[in-house]
Amino acid sequence: MTKILNVHQLGKSYNSGSKKLTVLDDISFQINEGETFAIVGPSGSGKTTLLGLAAGLDYPDLGTIELCGVDLDNLDEDERALLRNSNVGFIFQNFQLLPTLTALENVIVPLELQGKTNVEKIGKDLLSKVGLSDRIDHYPSQLSGGEQQRVALARAFSSRPSILFADEPTGNLDEETGEKVVQLLFDLNKEAGTTLVIVTHDLDLARKCKRILRLKGGRVLADTHSEQL
Ligand SMILES: Nc1ncnc2c1ncn2[C@@H]1O[C@H](COP(=O)(O)OP(=O)(O)OP(=O)(O)O)[C@@H](O)[C@H]1O
Ligand SMILES: [Mg+2]
Repeated sequence: MTKILNVHQLGKSYNSGSKKLTVLDDISFQINEGETFAIVGPSGSGKTTLLGLAAGLDYPDLGTIELCGVDLDNLDEDERALLRNSNVGFIFQNFQLLPTLTALENVIVPLELQGKTNVEKIGKDLLSKVGLSDRIDHYPSQLSGGEQQRVALARAFSSRPSILFADEPTGNLDEETGEKVVQLLFDLNKEAGTTLVIVTHDLDLARKCKRILRLKGGRVLADTHSEQL
């Protein structure tokens, strides 16, 4: 099996005042291509930090990350951006939509960056999949939290990533919409073979994934196949 993500002895700390706060300590795991992988743990345990490092959005203090066969240490900022644009989708905990762009424009930005044509149709199709056909011209400030989350999801899907990192993808959604979104994520995994790395507090969602990594206080508590739970 090809490893799409290889995280080796990762460490990250922040300076807060005169104190050093260790947020991640000696984290190692590997994910196979096409796998579904959940990261769970209490608030503050380092889940979002770990996702940002694994996706090459931030830099670790210690350890190495191989993403899509490339050691991120060997890439400069531009090369990282290129790798992310072509292979990686990211759904942020706080969505990070561009405030001056409409829902549709937000969804097609990654495609435009890749120089694709016919992007409007693709964007509209994706927004329709997440139930937002009648919101395509809304700006983020005119959308509810759950709607913004669904736009972020459509955007992450748009470039057909080989690996998708999702930070609490159902965190702001009602049960029914949450289930729809989960269905979309797993459809993407089945149909396009997209590897899913999902941070979640929702244990039902975590159990749908093949593997579950449990973090506590920045350390790995357990790395299990979900059937074992
Ligand atoms: N830029 C930063 N500077 C200082 N401390 C930070 C910074 N970013 C995160 N932290 C700290 O690192 C710890 C882990 O944060 P992180 O966002 O990874 O937690 P999390 O597991 O995603 O929590 P949640 O479930 O609440 O989203 C927290 O205690 C947080 O206060
Ligand atoms: Mg978080």
